[in-house]
Amino acid sequence: MKLKATVAIAAVSLLASISSGVFAAGDAERGKAYYATCGACHGANGEGMEALNAPSLAGQEEWYVIRQLQNFKNGIRGTNPKDTFGMQMAPMAQTLPNDQAIEDVAAYISTLAK
Ligand code: HEC
Repeated sequence: MKLKATVAIAAVSLLASISSGVFAAGDAERGKAYYATCGACHGANGEGMEALNAPSLAGQEEWYVIRQLQNFKNGIRGTNPKDTFGMQMAPMAQTLPNDQAIEDVAAYISTLAK
């Protein structure tokens, strides 16, 4: 009886860890901590700062933010020396350690009202 319960709990937690690994959706709470760095240029509420050439992120599509962060991180955007502003953003994307962090920060950005 006790063993069965233990096995059931193990199975459930295994499923939970698999689903959180494979179908990882962004966690806005975790993303908020990552956003602390971003706010220095994009504004605490994602309103953008023209003086720093950092656009507004509030109200932007979550999937688009994810794609741009992946592009910056993978050197698709912000590596051409003529891309002055992209080159300022690219190292910032490197502060996001993995895809989960990218999805988390994008989830947080999607909570910022335009
Ligand atoms: C040093 C200032 C700075 C910081 C810090 C910074 N950014 Fe940026 N970011 C920029 C600039 C400048 C651009 C505009 C790049 C361009 O013109 O191509 C930009 C562009 C972007 C874009 C693309 C917007 C679009 O519409 O294509 C996203 C998404 C973004 N930043 C997210 C972030 C996130 C998330 C963080 C925190 C991890 C962050 N930024 C931190 C300066 C910064």
